[in-house]
Amino acid sequence: MPIKFNRETMEFHLFNENISYLFRVLEKSNYLEHLYYGKKINHRHSFHHLIERDVRPSSNMFENDHTSSLEHIKQEYPSYGSTDFRYPAHMIKNNLGSHITDFQYESYKIFKGKSQLENLPATYVEDLEEADTLEITLYDTIIKTKLILSYTIYADRNVITRNARFINENDDAVYINNAMSTSIDLPDDQYEMVHLNGAWARETHMDTQKLSKGVQSIYSTRGASSHVHNPFLALKRFDANEHSGEAIGFSLVYSGNFIGQVEVDTYGISRVMMGINPFQFTWKLTPQETFQTPECVMVYSENGLNGLSQTYHDLYRKRLARGKWRDQIRPILINNWEATYFNFDEEKILNIVKSSRDLGIELFVLDDGWFGKRDDDSSSLGDWFEYDQKLPNGINGLSEKVEALGMKFGLWFEPEMVSKGTKLFDEHPDWIISSPNRRASHGRNQFVLDFSRKEVVDHIFMLMDNIIGKSKISYIKWDMNRYITEAYSQKLEIDQQGEVFHRYILGVYDLYERLIAKYPDILFESCAGGGARFDPGMLFYAPQTWASDNTDAVERLKIQYGASMVYPLSSIGSHVSAVPNHQVGRMTPLETRANVAYFGTFGYELDVTQLSDAEKSAVKQQVFFFKEKRELIHNGTFFRMQNPFESNETSWMVVSTDQSEAIVGYYKVLAKPNDKYSRVKLQGLDPNKLYTINKSETTHYGDELMNIGIILAEDYTDRASEYWSREHPHDYSARIFVLEEHKR
Ligand code: DGJ
Repeated sequence: MPIKFNRETMEFHLFNENISYLFRVLEKSNYLEHLYYGKKINHRHSFHHLIERDVRPSSNMFENDHTSSLEHIKQEYPSYGSTDFRYPAHMIKNNLGSHITDFQYESYKIFKGKSQLENLPATYVEDLEEADTLEITLYDTIIKTKLILSYTIYADRNVITRNARFINENDDAVYINNAMSTSIDLPDDQYEMVHLNGAWARETHMDTQKLSKGVQSIYSTRGASSHVHNPFLALKRFDANEHSGEAIGFSLVYSGNFIGQVEVDTYGISRVMMGINPFQFTWKLTPQETFQTPECVMVYSENGLNGLSQTYHDLYRKRLARGKWRDQIRPILINNWEATYFNFDEEKILNIVKSSRDLGIELFVLDDGWFGKRDDDSSSLGDWFEYDQKLPNGINGLSEKVEALGMKFGLWFEPEMVSKGTKLFDEHPDWIISSPNRRASHGRNQFVLDFSRKEVVDHIFMLMDNIIGKSKISYIKWDMNRYITEAYSQKLEIDQQGEVFHRYILGVYDLYERLIAKYPDILFESCAGGGARFDPGMLFYAPQTWASDNTDAVERLKIQYGASMVYPLSSIGSHVSAVPNHQVGRMTPLETRANVAYFGTFGYELDVTQLSDAEKSAVKQQVFFFKEKRELIHNGTFFRMQNPFESNETSWMVVSTDQSEAIVGYYKVLAKPNDKYSRVKLQGLDPNKLYTINKSETTHYGDELMNIGIILAEDYTDRASEYWSREHPHDYSARIFVLEEHKR
């Protein structure tokens, strides 16, 4: 039983083979005091000796008790207004205008398995034995509001998930100004905070800073989780690296405005919180209504950042992603965006399809520009009917032709947006998010539909359904190319305008859910101008995400390395594109572009009809190679070895679960004259197994490969006299090593 309750001492201990999480109910106040989170400790009947108290000059809750200051007590879900001056995990305003709350412990419930969150994405179990859940009910008698804190511990994963829900049992509404998904007070500040920072075309760049006193945070106020910060942070010990040492991860299953914050107080306590960003957020909780926060997934690792990532990968791949495509081999796709942009017609598309099919590519995706009168980004979003000059046979006709040619067909939509001059805009000008009597800013010439309104979501569903229902569509790329400004809904009440951002994202989830329910065989790929919504919330609906509009192989090393902190390779959209690269102008070898893109979903984004015969034959081989290896790449264990943010060399690898196979990618950005010898130390192999590398005759023990490494300098001794004919170094080089167990 991995959740124990010590009745005498009112302590809760969640544990499995690897981790422990401990807290208790405080005497007198009935608040929750945090005791421990980390590596598993033995259960005992009392953990009372873990309580730390000292008399400190401070405000105290109880008279004649100088140790009852909440400022000096580590808490589970701190409130505002009493003796704690740090940022609270929640804040509620009542009908007197007071923000003071007093949620006291009332009861607990332990059950097998895990409940789903209403209308929100979350991790799940398939079998009740996979996890246990503890729900703590707290109650504020003045505002007659319940607070239920939910904790799930997985039996075989180093994972604890948390969420909170508020239920108003009063006759008056209350206003939630802040409701974090998780909050934890760690006993010291000897950590570095790792997070993923970026912008359009340079998403998920790793950033690491030592914690310092005060508040440090990552956040979004943009209506999407955003390019700027991913809803993820990790705290790692100073001596922790990719392979060893302690790290704790926080990842929010949410796609809207969020905050991840660490507040280090003057005593070195680190309060970590994550949830919906309270900035611009208020929720009017009407009588009998429930407010559910998103889920935060906390992972503990004693095997460094790789250990942390591997836990996230496995959980998100198997217990967050859903549906048919969760376990299915993903098709190798070709997308026409960088090949044609808006400039295509049916003939051009079918030529690309034929050439792609001949190369072994499996799915063709028609990107932006197939609808309304869309020839550039200034029109037609919302007119979700075919541009007949480009596609005289419609999507229906085209998709049938593509299928007849032996490929599957995929289609791009940007459901949340509208352009001026469309039927949709003209009929419903009040459906855009904008503030009364104020300018509505545009982004890429487009406006954001008010997805907080059900009728808007209904209408878009109907338009998409009209296209999808009559065509042969196997894949949908759902794009979103601008952030929300002037956040105001023409429909919501004045005192509910703080709900717009959250209701908007609930509308997005609702549309996804409806489409998935009606079309369970369609593979969805989420996209938001690249990776602005590469978050766990999206993965619940779309098992893969277009990681970035930047397709340059060198840039992709950083983007994919960073994304892999949290997201499995099967979710990282990665394509081979043309050179000079459209984002940075760099000329990288075709081989290098593929060698990087293999470590993701893999596909192409170029005009294959323009390739030379030699290039076509190379692409054919790449496609063949990926088909052989994709199962290993998508389901194996991923290790990062050399970090592109720190060096000229990058390496990573995937090992099969039975350790009989592995694939290693090694990349060197700039060539160096007369360079040092390099080795790549491998990870995750069976030390006692013998492996061949790229089918070579020499075999290597796993221990040798992990402790000495692959020796990269070729052995030239037999050609020592051929000085000029040796292989010359070049920039942007990449090598793939395939390891296979050598059976004796
Ligand atoms: C942004 C996406 O990230 C691109 O891949 C492409 O779909 C364009 N939008 C189309 O407008």
